[in-house]
Amino acid sequence: MEKTFLMVKPDGVQRGLIGEIVKRFEQKGFQLIGSKLTMVSREQAAFHYAEHEGKDFYERLVNFITSGPVFAMVWQGDQVIPLSRTLIGKTNSLEAAPGTIRGDYAVHTNFNLIHGSDSPESAEREIGNFFKADELLEYTKVIQQWI
Ligand code: TYD
Ligand code: MG
Repeated sequence: MEKTFLMVKPDGVQRGLIGEIVKRFEQKGFQLIGSKLTMVSREQAAFHYAEHEGKDFYERLVNFITSGPVFAMVWQGDQVIPLSRTLIGKTNSLEAAPGTIRGDYAVHTNFNLIHGSDSPESAEREIGNFFKADELLEYTKVIQQWI
């Protein structure tokens, strides 16, 4: 079953949007298999955002993601990686459609509330950056057959 790494960023935690964001993935039908409220170390942030190292927004991005608690999660489900990106909405806040998390709640691109993995390779490394294997729970979801 496909897994993705989702993270409510410090702005989402501060604004009290953890519940609203979790609700959207639950209602879509995905399965939460791990979560933690945690601070992101600078080392973790550098690993997480390695693809953006050297870009003009990189320092600001690392400062932001390490500035306060985040809510890190692993979700599981069919096509959960691309479908989560659809629920999250476009990176650029001017392009994020209403109905998406960013479209409904984010004003600025640099405070865009949530991270979601963009490929199976990213998901694997991002999950490993935040979770040990024994922090993820495999359990039967009895209504899985309908979604
Ligand atoms: P990116 O991986 O391109 O976006 P996404 O979060 O949708 O996968 O960029 C990572 C984060 O970097 C993005 O969520 C917000 C920040 N960012 C900026 O602040 N300015 C920018 O121009 C870009 C592209 C990203
Ligand atoms: Mg990205």
